[in-house]
Amino acid sequence: MRTRHFLIASLMFFGCLWSLGAQNAPSIYEAKIDSLMNLMTLEEKIGQTVMYGGGWAKTGPFVNTDFEKYIREGNVGAMLNVYTAKATRDLQKIAVENTRLGIPLLFGYDVIHGHRTIFPINLALSGSWDPELVELTSRIAAEEASAEGLHWTFAPMLDIARDPRWGRISEGAGEDVYLTNVLAKSYVKGFQGYDLSKNNTILACAKHFVGYGAAQAGRDYHTVSMGEDELRNVYLPPFKAAVDAGVETFMTAFNELNGVPATGNKFIFRDILRNEWDFKGFVVSDYTAINELIPHGFAKDSIDAARLAMLAGIDMDMMGHVYRKNLKKLIEDGAISEDLVNEPCRKILSAKFKLGLFDDPYRYSDEKRQQEIIYKPEFLKTARDAAAASSVLLKNDGNALPLEKSATVALIGPLAKDEYHINGNWGGAGDRKGKSVSIYEGLQEYLKEHGILYAKGCDLEKDDESGFQEAIDAAKKADVVLLVMGESYHMSGEAASRTDIRIPGIQPKLIKKIREAVPNKKIVMLLMNGRPLDLSEEIEQVDAVLEAWYPGTMGGSGVADVLFGVYNPSAKLTVTFPRNVGQIPIYYNMKNTGRPIPESNPKQDYKSNYIDSPNTPLFVFGHGLSYTSFKYSDLTLSSAHIGFNDTLTATVSITNTGNYDGHEVVQLYIHDKVGSITRPVKELKGFQKIFLKKGETKIVRFKLSAEDLKFYNNKMEFVAEAGEFEIAIAPSSDFKFKHLFTLE
Ligand code: NOJ
Repeated sequence: MRTRHFLIASLMFFGCLWSLGAQNAPSIYEAKIDSLMNLMTLEEKIGQTVMYGGGWAKTGPFVNTDFEKYIREGNVGAMLNVYTAKATRDLQKIAVENTRLGIPLLFGYDVIHGHRTIFPINLALSGSWDPELVELTSRIAAEEASAEGLHWTFAPMLDIARDPRWGRISEGAGEDVYLTNVLAKSYVKGFQGYDLSKNNTILACAKHFVGYGAAQAGRDYHTVSMGEDELRNVYLPPFKAAVDAGVETFMTAFNELNGVPATGNKFIFRDILRNEWDFKGFVVSDYTAINELIPHGFAKDSIDAARLAMLAGIDMDMMGHVYRKNLKKLIEDGAISEDLVNEPCRKILSAKFKLGLFDDPYRYSDEKRQQEIIYKPEFLKTARDAAAASSVLLKNDGNALPLEKSATVALIGPLAKDEYHINGNWGGAGDRKGKSVSIYEGLQEYLKEHGILYAKGCDLEKDDESGFQEAIDAAKKADVVLLVMGESYHMSGEAASRTDIRIPGIQPKLIKKIREAVPNKKIVMLLMNGRPLDLSEEIEQVDAVLEAWYPGTMGGSGVADVLFGVYNPSAKLTVTFPRNVGQIPIYYNMKNTGRPIPESNPKQDYKSNYIDSPNTPLFVFGHGLSYTSFKYSDLTLSSAHIGFNDTLTATVSITNTGNYDGHEVVQLYIHDKVGSITRPVKELKGFQKIFLKKGETKIVRFKLSAEDLKFYNNKMEFVAEAGEFEIAIAPSSDFKFKHLFTLE
């Protein structure tokens, strides 16, 4: 940990104060912005609100081709999907040297879990329960991105997601509010650093505001409808945490929220974000989301869409042409005031000043720095560590893992030699071929020359069984079978919702055939996927399951470290794995209902249960095994009662009772038993990741105050209510409360 602190610090600039909440400070550039805006025509001001794409990546349905022309005309404020020092410099040159006022462009890109060096997907990384690691990975991402001319990332994605059908569940930190709040801060700190005027820091963007993760039936872009209590207690808090951490920009969500599309939603952008939270940065629409106000049935045409988005407080139009084409006319017709355009222009210019682009517009576009920075060995080392720390050991019967270095391993499956899917859906600018380490290559570091018997077996999705026999033969010859299976990376991310969340294609059939062929051999399944899968059938066939998600550039090495016990797995799920798709949405912090099922008789009539499935999931939130075991004992509370100004200390003793040193993620949960609005059956309120040598015992302490017990009540006031609270410190969310305290 100490080394990591040092790495983060050395990647920052020394001697600067962390600019927590800095975007809320009055801009020291106001006078400069005033003088510049005095010189600007209305068209030039509108130009600042326009973002076009350079087409280096396709991240939406439409790609603009005339961007150079619009830049020359002074009609563009920002570009997306262009990177490298040279490409950004070339375009910046047009903006700075060939337009009337020479206002520099902002370059933004989806640097989601790494830029060149790709880290595990965000859902995986959240499973490390390691805020410092998350900060470090985003710091490295910012180092690499900024060296390639980028000023702005469209991250972090802070959408709470409880529906694994939704492909974008892979991009967030899972289902829990508390954990997402904590990691939101780490992401923002990592990207924005101490001081935005340094050329290795970039603007972060909290997205997608708001409710996107609650898309009906898990179908992307679908309708969202929820009460204000759920909005305020579940979906808004991570965004507030990002504002508190000083995030500079926000992105709108594609969905409608209670009948009003987010991109035209004044309530969320003006009333909550700006007025309640005092956010001073700027808001970008998602990709053509202003245009989409029309098919939503909210705007009648493009000019109406421009008006509604402006009124809602959307400062920049990503890819839509809507602001460029319509704002001038709206002002000339008196439909909106010019001040409505001055406001976004001022905020966007302010961001450019903060980044130092008016001092030197090319300061990020430095080819020498690019050469020095990308894929630095220490970045790759962090990527390897992150892959290990994010892999969740779901099952390990008979200690099938770790593997012996002397073993002969049958390495089977469509992802065993993969270097392409391993980087995940938001692979940034990461090189998928040649740079990423496959599982096969990772294993080669550990196994003797003839220790790997490789057979692909089948494809990810096709139904050709001709490779089955070779795989079965390899399984028969080996000491242990390692299946590397999962989803293609195209199956998660945007527009990648699935109604069937089982392992695709004929992979499950191959697993069965192998089990039949080697009934007594250890079979380990290594999964790469972007969502919780329905593993109900496969889990019975195999001895061990390691969920590696998409582990990134160094995935093969990091995962091999876990397979061979060099890294003792410590990751825990941040999202529930259902037994079947019919249980969705399923998450640990649900409400109790008026007819909860009695533990003694889960099948009782007229209770909130299913007639064909248990209510419980396959794997709970917080679950994750280790090669060692931990014993929790002696939970004590400093008092059975606390007042509104007191602090409760909860203490537990944890012993490593197994044979390996290891990390444990210790989780604190509460249950507010009675509320003016009902409270979830369990709520995470704290966690600590500790390291214990075998045989070692540590005392872990958590502090709780009334502040931690607050929620939005039935009047939408943020309060703690007096009453009884259950409390537990546990290794996962699967426990029964035994302790109680009161707030009075
Ligand atoms: C659409 C996605 O929803 C958003 O997350 C992303 O940042 C933009 N495209 C830009 O690529």
